[in-house]
Amino acid sequence: MRFYPKKFIREKIEEIRKKVGDKKALVATSGGVDSTTCAVLAQEALGDNLVVIFLENGLMREGESEEINKFFSKRGIELQIWDVKEKFFEALKGKIDPEEKRKAFREVFYKTLGQALRSYSVDFLIQGTIALDIIETQKGIKTQHNVLAQIGINPAHYGLKIIEPLKELYKPQVRRVAKELGLPKSICERKPFPGPGLAIRILGEVTPERVEKIRMATVIVEEMIKSDKIFQVFPVLFSDKATGVIEGKRVLGDVIAIRAIESKDGTAGQPYKIPWPKLEKVRDKILKTVPGVVKVVYDITPKPPSTIEYI
Ligand code: XMP
Repeated sequence: MRFYPKKFIREKIEEIRKKVGDKKALVATSGGVDSTTCAVLAQEALGDNLVVIFLENGLMREGESEEINKFFSKRGIELQIWDVKEKFFEALKGKIDPEEKRKAFREVFYKTLGQALRSYSVDFLIQGTIALDIIETQKGIKTQHNVLAQIGINPAHYGLKIIEPLKELYKPQVRRVAKELGLPKSICERKPFPGPGLAIRILGEVTPERVEKIRMATVIVEEMIKSDKIFQVFPVLFSDKATGVIEGKRVLGDVIAIRAIESKDGTAGQPYKIPWPKLEKVRDKILKTVPGVVKVVYDITPKPPSTIEYI
């Protein structure tokens, strides 16, 4: 079926206005294409009756918070920044199981949003859930951080009424809507980044120190491995330690995997063939920059049977 972004925007603006009426709504943005498109769509629909919040969860990439802030202030939206790093780290403390980590993230995320809705006297939460999020949760592949109804959680439990204007769309369509809304290329073409952020790129416990390691490696990987063919590229920190030799001494250190995936919309994917010399340069930079890493491996698994992310 053909997709007409202009028509979609018109209809969704109308729908948001009808649902929210003269009440207020809130969008929590992560700076990604889905939530940012959602925020701009909601701004078009509601003007000053929209609050945009950014939860500084300690799991974002380097410089991301500043970039997001800049974008929204350019659009005349005063971004509400809530520093809730400690709450997230507290909830993730000691958790190793992937689903438990996702659950912990989700709990803090929605509890905090519930508080935000109350503190800004807002009735509606507008969120950028897309079709893939819903499908993967329904199939039981994993629980996305933002799909509540599908996993049997009543949004009312968190004091929420939820509107999901993008839920029928896949990523390429969201990008077309973003473009039609006049969002800059840097956002329209932004690679997907999951809501739970760097937490899902860490196997084992998520601690501030481990997040810092993966954050450093992410800067390297994103800067050095670029191609239009790549859907997502990122490093992952393993939980088990491996043996290495540093300054002539046998040590147990960290293992980092590099994942680069070609995909249309994330439903399936093939590993991108990073040229070997490039891979070696990335390896060297990671070994030199990220403390304690003794092995860098390259993940060549397609989706399926693997998923794109590691948890
Ligand atoms: P998987 O790992 O299931 O990922 O192959 C498919 C796409 O979904 C993204 N992803 C998430 N996005 N919240 C999100 O907003 C999540 O909990 C989440 N988990 C995975 C992933 O980055 C990929 O683009």
